[in-house]
Amino acid sequence: MSSNRSLLILPGDGIGPEVMREVRRVIEWFGKRRQVSFDIDEDIVGGASIDAHRTPLTDKALDKAMNADAVLFGSVGGPKWDNLGFDMRPEGGLLTLRKELDLFANLRPAICFPALAGASSLKPELVTGLDILIVRELTGGVYFGEPRGIETLPDGQRRGVNTQVYTTSEIHRVARVAFELARKRRNLVHSSEKANVMESGLLWREEVTRLHKSDYSDVQLQHILADNCAMQLVREPKQFDVIVTDNLFGDLLSDVAAMLTGSLGMLPSASLGAKDASGRSKALYEPVHGSAPDIAGKGLANPIATILSFGMALRYSFDLPNDADLVGKAVENVLAGGLRTADIMQPGMAKVSTGVMGDAIVRELDKLTT
Ligand code: IPM
Ligand code: MG
Repeated sequence: MSSNRSLLILPGDGIGPEVMREVRRVIEWFGKRRQVSFDIDEDIVGGASIDAHRTPLTDKALDKAMNADAVLFGSVGGPKWDNLGFDMRPEGGLLTLRKELDLFANLRPAICFPALAGASSLKPELVTGLDILIVRELTGGVYFGEPRGIETLPDGQRRGVNTQVYTTSEIHRVARVAFELARKRRNLVHSSEKANVMESGLLWREEVTRLHKSDYSDVQLQHILADNCAMQLVREPKQFDVIVTDNLFGDLLSDVAAMLTGSLGMLPSASLGAKDASGRSKALYEPVHGSAPDIAGKGLANPIATILSFGMALRYSFDLPNDADLVGKAVENVLAGGLRTADIMQPGMAKVSTGVMGDAIVRELDKLTT
């Protein structure tokens, strides 16, 4: 079977390249064993691109991303580039991709694999069976709002400004994604904002309510203040199904949710744009974790979040749910077998490197299909 599935790989900085190496092996496995092949291109982004081209994202790389069926992104950033201005920071490469591809819906599932319940910072009974989905708005809010900047006042003080701003359509389009996904899950959406102190939060609440009434009254909707949401996530996380929230709160809440599952090294994400006439949307897949410069190059990184991100690409961009499930199953079995990278290490388990974890997952894929 031939295919014209195109995949742009942007490994980035820090542990990005080493986890991506393992993902490539999984992708190769799919090409060989499942006849699911991809036209793969690769480019640099973030600090690597700053070093080579003096910009965190070249026009050429952006153009490739625009034209790919899906982008697989590693991570960006590191101390080397910490003192550059905002437009020259590695993170700018990622933010430009999100904005230019208009990837407004960021899906961050937090699933606790049974074998990892003991690795969570919460009691196992609180996280066993956990399966929540954070839908984070990704192209608006305080990340992109104007005015923004740092100015010096006449009295010599400095003043930093960012703007939290949302419009009706921005709220509706991401809330729609949340309601649609909830229908395929446990049919419950928590919408999270700070309507008690922010006008943009009040608008968010009113517009989500309006959309719910008109189009999604079959889905259960609850509003929850973002601070309470953070608290409830660590108090009783299984009360949640889908959480829809803005860009900044989504950033925070998804890190909290990630840790419930045992490690930030486990969480994949999908960032999706609007569907075009043919039903396809632009998409970028990335682990929720960052570049972890402190452990980069040491073989300590957990490749699972990025491997599961590829799994999400199989599901959402390439309409291959069975293959996506296969990736999840392989990861689950390898964990059940006792292999652990350092971030999820527990007493009695076997501590392995990034590469050995990748090996084991590829071998498990073999086992599952023979
Ligand atoms: C994330 C990251 C990014 C964000 C950074 C790297 C810009 O923390 O994807 O959660 O803040 O969105
Ligand atoms: Mg984050």
